[in-house]
Amino acid sequence: MAENIVEIHGLKKVYREGSVSTEALRGIDLSVARGEYLGVVGKSGAGKTTLLNMIAGLDSVTEGEITVDGRRVDKMNEVKKAVWRGRSVGFIFQSFQLLPGLSLLDNVMLPMDFCGKLSRNSSEKAAELLRMVGLIDHIHKIPSEISGGQQQRVAIARALANDPILLLADEPTGRLDTATSEVVFEIFEKVVAGGTTMIIVSHDHSLAERTRRIITLADGRIADE
Ligand SMILES: Nc1ncnc2c1ncn2[C@@H]1O[C@H](COP(=O)(O)OP(=O)(O)O)[C@@H](O)[C@H]1O
Ligand SMILES: [Mg+2]
Repeated sequence: MAENIVEIHGLKKVYREGSVSTEALRGIDLSVARGEYLGVVGKSGAGKTTLLNMIAGLDSVTEGEITVDGRRVDKMNEVKKAVWRGRSVGFIFQSFQLLPGLSLLDNVMLPMDFCGKLSRNSSEKAAELLRMVGLIDHIHKIPSEISGGQQQRVAIARALANDPILLLADEPTGRLDTATSEVVFEIFEKVVAGGTTMIIVSHDHSLAERTRRIITLADGRIADE
């Protein structure tokens, strides 16, 4: 087992739209150790989301190498990447992205289903995750019946459904008030204490200060550590 869960060398990302090209990442070198709790801060447009998406294999790499848990994400084909991502990476978005028509329990079970991991124990496991985020009394509700903070807690439970080796969060408290954000960060603390490696990106420096290590992105480069 490699010591570093994430190894990035010379990563560049250029977005091309017609004749316009944007250099979102201009040469990133980054190692993240197993079990680390990393915060990535930087202004809007600095490249934070791009970096997170590249690590999760959600977008193609223009140049450079990304190895996650010993696998070259930049070399995987789309099908392999989708399977690998579903089994290995949990992703939390600013906008929760729950399925509105499904119960909280079914939302959390969805990634298990997607990865062919659905079994007799799945609903128990999903309920256990919802208990961990404090929502055991609401598992049969649908997302519109709970608050934004509660929805983000469901999204965290869903991200953990397949026991990911890596949990990534993009501005996870961007839509939440301070008190609700506090609850979310307490859950992240628990997840990290359980041994999961976690990377949070945020434009809000004070939020990322909750993590154990912080890097700053500016204009597609690591400006500070
Ligand atoms: N899909 C895309 N197409 C074209 N340009 C993009 C795309 N996504 C991001 N960008 C550009 O790349 C740069 C970095 O964006 P992003 O990674 O979203 O920054 P951050 O998350 O730090 O706000 C910005 O200039 C943004 O406009
Ligand atoms: Mg962003």
